[in-house]
Amino acid sequence: MIHQLVYYSRNVVAGNDRSMLMNLRDIVSASQRNNSRDGITGFLIFDKTWFIQVLEGDQAQVSSTYTRIARDPRHTSATILDARNVQGRSFPNWTMGGAMRTPEVEEIYLQHGIGSFIDPTRLTSGKVVALALDLQAFDAAKRQTQRLAS
Ligand SMILES: Cc1cc2nc3c(=O)[nH]c(=O)nc-3n(C[C@H](O)[C@H](O)[C@H](O)COP(=O)(O)O)c2cc1C
Repeated sequence: MIHQLVYYSRNVVAGNDRSMLMNLRDIVSASQRNNSRDGITGFLIFDKTWFIQVLEGDQAQVSSTYTRIARDPRHTSATILDARNVQGRSFPNWTMGGAMRTPEVEEIYLQHGIGSFIDPTRLTSGKVVALALDLQAFDAAKRQTQRLAS
C-alpha cells in the first residue's frame, strides 16, 4: 500500500525568478538524494507565493519526510490537504520533480481552472495530482524536443 500526502505552504524565499530557480535546484537535489534513499517519489509545484507538494511512499517514510520538510525555514504554514492510502504511485519515476510556474505553463494552470493567483483552500489532492501530471508531461515533452534538437 502506498501512502500519498499532499500539502501546501507559503513560499518565503524572496527574490526574482532566477534566485527562485536556484533555490529550487537546492531543494530538488537534497530531495532526490534523500527520497531515493527513503523510497519517496512525488512532485513539487511552486510560484512566488506557494509551494504545493505530493509525497508518496511508505507511510512512516512519508510522515518523517513531511515532518522534516515542514520545519524548513524556506516556507511557513505547511498545511496538509490530504493524506491517504492509494493503489499505486502517481509519480513512480520521480524522486522529486519540480515545476516553477512560468508563462510557458500558464495554459496548463488555466486548463485546470487555476487563475493567476492560486487559492490553496480550493485545491484538492485529486486536482493537485492531475495538474502535476500535466506539468510533468509538459516537462518531459520539452526535454524530448531539446534532445532531438541537440
Ligand atoms: C517546499 C520544500 C519541499 C521539500 N521537499 C523535500 C523532499 O521531498 N525531500 C527531502 O528530503 N527534503 C525536502 N525538502 C528539504 C528539507 O526541508 C531539508 O532541507 C532536507 O531534507 C535536508 O536534507 P539533508 O539533511 O540531507 O541536507 C524540501 C524543502 C522545501 C522548502
